[in-house]
Amino acid sequence: MKSEEIKEQVVLYSKILDQKGLVNSLEGNISIYDRENDLLYVTPTSTRKEFLKPEDIAIMKGDDQVGGNKRRSSEYLLHKVALAARPDCNAVVHVHAPYMTAYAYCNKSIDIRCSTTFAILHDGIPCIPYGLPGSLDITNGLSEAIQGHDIVLLANHGLVCVAKTLEHACAVVEATEEVLKIYNLAKTMGVSNLSDEDLEAIKKAKR
Ligand code: 13P
Repeated sequence: MKSEEIKEQVVLYSKILDQKGLVNSLEGNISIYDRENDLLYVTPTSTRKEFLKPEDIAIMKGDDQVGGNKRRSSEYLLHKVALAARPDCNAVVHVHAPYMTAYAYCNKSIDIRCSTTFAILHDGIPCIPYGLPGSLDITNGLSEAIQGHDIVLLANHGLVCVAKTLEHACAVVEATEEVLKIYNLAKTMGVSNLSDEDLEAIKKAKR
């Protein structure tokens, strides 16, 4: 992908996430990693994603900002660590999506057994311990956790999702958030879980 195309993608998905209420001016950041040139294209800090323009997208070479007319996200280290641990992925979405983040606020992993979507997408979603936002501290335990899971919760904070493309990372975040929204309704009615056999068949069909 060319540089202009990458910036346009970051802008497009920032706006989509904003419209869906999954990011706001002060919460959430997304990125695409150009592995060939070792360049990270990340949203700028503290900006309303709806108003982003391609020239606002920060370009990071290591810890140096080499492009973009606004300061890089305060969480770019989170993106770097996640991408280093997952060479199969080129995109990161960090959001404070309410239904998933509720688990993070309770320092709880997510393991539900009532949803086919959840079974297709996840083998549970782990929660790593709290770390100071905007510091490397936040990434303690992330490399290990994200190797086996596309979404990892950050205790008392939010979540990070990795995927091959930004489109897929956003799709996984959106679908998982919807599942947990429904689960929150369903649990008041008495959820019916899928059997071990059904869950195994879903995992098998996925392979
Ligand atoms: P930025 O605005 O610096 O990207 O940070 C928002 C955020 O989500 C902090 O965790």
